Amino acid sequence: MGTEVAPPGRSIEVALENTTTSVNKDAESYEMPWVEKYRPMVLDDVVGNAETVERLKVIAEDGNMPHIIISGMPGIGKTTSIHCLAHALLGDAYKEGVLELNASDERGIDVVRNKIKSFAQRKVTLPAGRHKIIILDEADSMTTGAQQALRRTMEIYSNTTRFALACNMSNKIIEPIQSRCALLRYAKLRDTEVLKRLLEVCKAEDVPYSDEGISALIFTSEGDMRQAINNLQSTYSGFNFISPDNVFKVCDQPHPVVVQKMMKECQAQKVDDALDGLRDLWDQGYSAVDIVVTIFRVVKTMDALPEYLKLEFIREIGWTHMRILEGVGTLVQLGGLIARLCRISIDPKLLAL
Ligand SMILES: Nc1ncnc2c1ncn2[C@@H]1O[C@H](COP(=O)(O)OP(=O)(O)OP(=O)(O)O)[C@@H](O)[C@H]1O
Ligand SMILES: [Mg+2]
Repeated sequence: MGTEVAPPGRSIEVALENTTTSVNKDAESYEMPWVEKYRPMVLDDVVGNAETVERLKVIAEDGNMPHIIISGMPGIGKTTSIHCLAHALLGDAYKEGVLELNASDERGIDVVRNKIKSFAQRKVTLPAGRHKIIILDEADSMTTGAQQALRRTMEIYSNTTRFALACNMSNKIIEPIQSRCALLRYAKLRDTEVLKRLLEVCKAEDVPYSDEGISALIFTSEGDMRQAINNLQSTYSGFNFISPDNVFKVCDQPHPVVVQKMMKECQAQKVDDALDGLRDLWDQGYSAVDIVVTIFRVVKTMDALPEYLKLEFIREIGWTHMRILEGVGTLVQLGGLIARLCRISIDPKLLAL
């Protein structure tokens, strides 16, 4: 940790020298985050959710866009799709024809009354048959009052202006708004879809990787493309090679191989060994939530467990997760889980004796 202190008298010179070189170096190596660099510009490049994206393409061709809400988990292409759709509809007129407001903008009732209304009233030249588009990103963070204020606005100006909302939880959008919109749900991206995109990015950036490394990226990102691409970039810039160990170092999650070993020990009722594994993870500083969530994800995809045992395991893990979220995230709690998993694995006939 100790930083070297330059001897007095030389320090300013050295500091200045260092600053200039480091600035130049930064400018040379300056790179856009890959999530932005590889943000799809057209609907055809959006991977996953094929049916929903197909509907958007039909809308883009037809030109008559209904009010839409796209809802789903973070990082799966909602904002991207809406921008692609708006580009496809408006082309060069995108700049004048689109008003985008996201959660970082003030979006209280006043804004709905003033900014949105005045945009809706404004006259702009658009391609024939197209409408102005108001994009309300992260719409679930809008207050109920502001959403209420939108109701009539959406109707009054609907002949010239259409709304596109994106949100993570559609239940945070009030019913009257939902009923005015076509609700499109985006599902988490499948592993194969994330894989496809990751390989494209690896190829474009010339990233060396091992297949297991890419699997590790997919495992840690859980269907969130943004996270997958970000982790790819961090692993590459940190280690220059995508291997599972490097990925787990960057993502700082309990290593699934370690957790899998623990689960196999539970299955073989080796409670002491499993508890040792747990203790190791705990000592590395992982929180109870990190550990229980990884246990769940490992068990879900563990072929070595017979189906009936997997169901019992998942039930116990679920209960433990709930208790941890309620506040009891101790090592004892996790130890209890391990003990129960070992017990479940005992042949029932032996227990009856
Ligand atoms: N379906 C996808 N196809 C290709 N790239 C994607 C997809 N989804 C996400 N990405 C990548 O992830 C980045 C973030 O996506 P986007 O902003 O659309 O996420 P979002 O669904 O709006 O998430 P949030 O709910 O957090 O706003 C994009 O820049 C892109 O690089
Ligand atoms: Mg978004």
